[in-house]
Amino acid sequence: RKRVAILISGRGSNMMSLVAAADGAYEVALVASDKPDAAGLGWAKAQGLATWALSPKGIGKPAYEAALDAALRDAGVGTIALAGYMRLLSDDFVARWRGRILNIHPSLLPKYKGLDTHARAIEAGDSHGGCSVHVVTEELDGGAVLGQAEVAIEPGDTPETLAARVLVAEHRLYPRVLADFVAQTS
Ligand code: GAR
Repeated sequence: RKRVAILISGRGSNMMSLVAAADGAYEVALVASDKPDAAGLGWAKAQGLATWALSPKGIGKPAYEAALDAALRDAGVGTIALAGYMRLLSDDFVARWRGRILNIHPSLLPKYKGLDTHARAIEAGDSHGGCSVHVVTEELDGGAVLGQAEVAIEPGDTPETLAARVLVAEHRLYPRVLADFVAQTS
């Protein structure tokens, strides 16, 4: 379970924090993306990490997920960490990796599943936003929450200013929760 794959779709700042904190607790065996031009992939390559990328566009989701599954198994991956991976995994894929996929979501789940979490928290007048690391199940952002960090919403916060502060909390939370998860499931 210590061999971890990190799945990204974009800049990959959470991936970078997971890589920086690996330190024996887990090993980043693969960085994979559904976006061959994801900014984070270049960084991962420059670190000498194994990378894999394929767009589902054109080939369809089943073929894309079959190739992803094969790449993960070839890399000997035991745990998958979604880090800004913006594509829904199919029920079949989730079932094949049941209990071994984690995700970081920028809200205090069960509040604000899905998108635009910070705008929704501000609009609701919440005192705090935050982030959650949870187990991935077939229900979007619905699996067991393994860890959360709260961030106060300040007067004048916009979705962007709040997102930036929550991101700092994400970078602290995810490596800690992943290390604990790997230790408990090995
Ligand atoms: C992070 O804030 C993450 O929590 C969020 O996307 C951002 C990715 O940033 N994830 C989701 O919204 C998942 N639905 P990063 O690529 O710099 O890690």
